[in-house]
Amino acid sequence: MLPTTMAKSPFFLLLCLPSMAMAIDYDDNLWPSLPLLRKRASRNVPEQGFYDPRSNGGSMLTVVEGTFPPGQGEPINMIISGNSDEDVLNDREEDGGLRNYWLSLEFAGECLGQHSGSDQGANLGDDNGTKNETAVIRFNYGNPQLGTCQETVDGGNHFRYWVQDGSQANSGAIFMAASYEMPIASQHDIVSNGYNLARDYIVGNITQQTIPSVNLTNSTTYSGTTSFDGYTYQTDVLYVSGF
Ligand SMILES: *[C@@H]1O[C@H](CO)[C@@H](O)[C@H](O)[C@H]1NC(C)=O
Ligand SMILES: *[C@@H]1O[C@H](CO)[C@@H](O)[C@H](O)[C@H]1NC(C)=O
Ligand SMILES: *[C@@H]1O[C@H](CO)[C@@H](O)[C@H](O)[C@H]1NC(C)=O
Ligand SMILES: *[C@@H]1O[C@H](CO)[C@@H](O)[C@H](O)[C@H]1NC(C)=O
Ligand SMILES: *[C@@H]1O[C@H](CO)[C@@H](O)[C@H](O)[C@H]1NC(C)=O
Repeated sequence: MLPTTMAKSPFFLLLCLPSMAMAIDYDDNLWPSLPLLRKRASRNVPEQGFYDPRSNGGSMLTVVEGTFPPGQGEPINMIISGNSDEDVLNDREEDGGLRNYWLSLEFAGECLGQHSGSDQGANLGDDNGTKNETAVIRFNYGNPQLGTCQETVDGGNHFRYWVQDGSQANSGAIFMAASYEMPIASQHDIVSNGYNLARDYIVGNITQQTIPSVNLTNSTTYSGTTSFDGYTYQTDVLYVSGF
């Protein structure tokens, strides 16, 4: 977080490339890795920064009510490592917490505190079962106060997130399902390739460069530094396949 702390504890973001619909000779999901946080005493974080939900009855797809055909979900395609700086894993805006980190990427809570969009669940294999999303976070078009209102109306980038903190897999990692949606007039459907695009735009915001989505592979890495409200964050990104 603060430059000195940062140097001691880098911050890792894991990104997942779930649906590389391109004709590339791999078909696995790719993941990047994000911020590193100091370990909280009560947490037990594996080296990779999170527990694979699938190893304990969970899934890397969200649970969406009322899909047709039934049983469809959206990909969880980014993970903030449980080995990130403790402050960043703290879900608050104060003291450089998670919400402030997202503000440094121009993402913020929903327009005027109003919740729009359906709730989705996720089973992170942590003994919480399927839990509702913690919140929806939207791109704020550079306006921390009202920008997410523009996102709600015009569409754009947003993500839902869940914390892996159940008793059987308490990593504290933040699991994010990012997608790029159409304007509200089009019922917020997802744009073509909108899961990969959303993920890579966020990495673009972290690194201030355009991410070449078609050329990403397992183990592609990026790093970047972002700031908001007097806090500076170092993010290391790792794309990982197989999830
Ligand atoms: C999840 O949210 C739905 C409403 O969207 C609510 O009906 C349900 O009770 C919530 N589940 C839990 C476990 O809080
Ligand atoms: C998940 O389980 C942990 C540990 O039992 C509990 O503290 C937390 O509130 C649960 N979260 C949800 C969303 O149920
Ligand atoms: C930052 O994010 C926004 C919204 O997703 C996107 O339009 C923009 O292209 C991103 N910046 C970069 C450099 O990728
Ligand atoms: C992807 O890689 C190829 C081969 O190295 C290169 O020619 C192309 O410009 C790259 N595409 C992007 C979008 O960077
Ligand atoms: C991705 O790379 C890691 C090592 O960097 C390796 O352990 C893993 O097996 C690879 N995944 C796939 C699906 O090839």
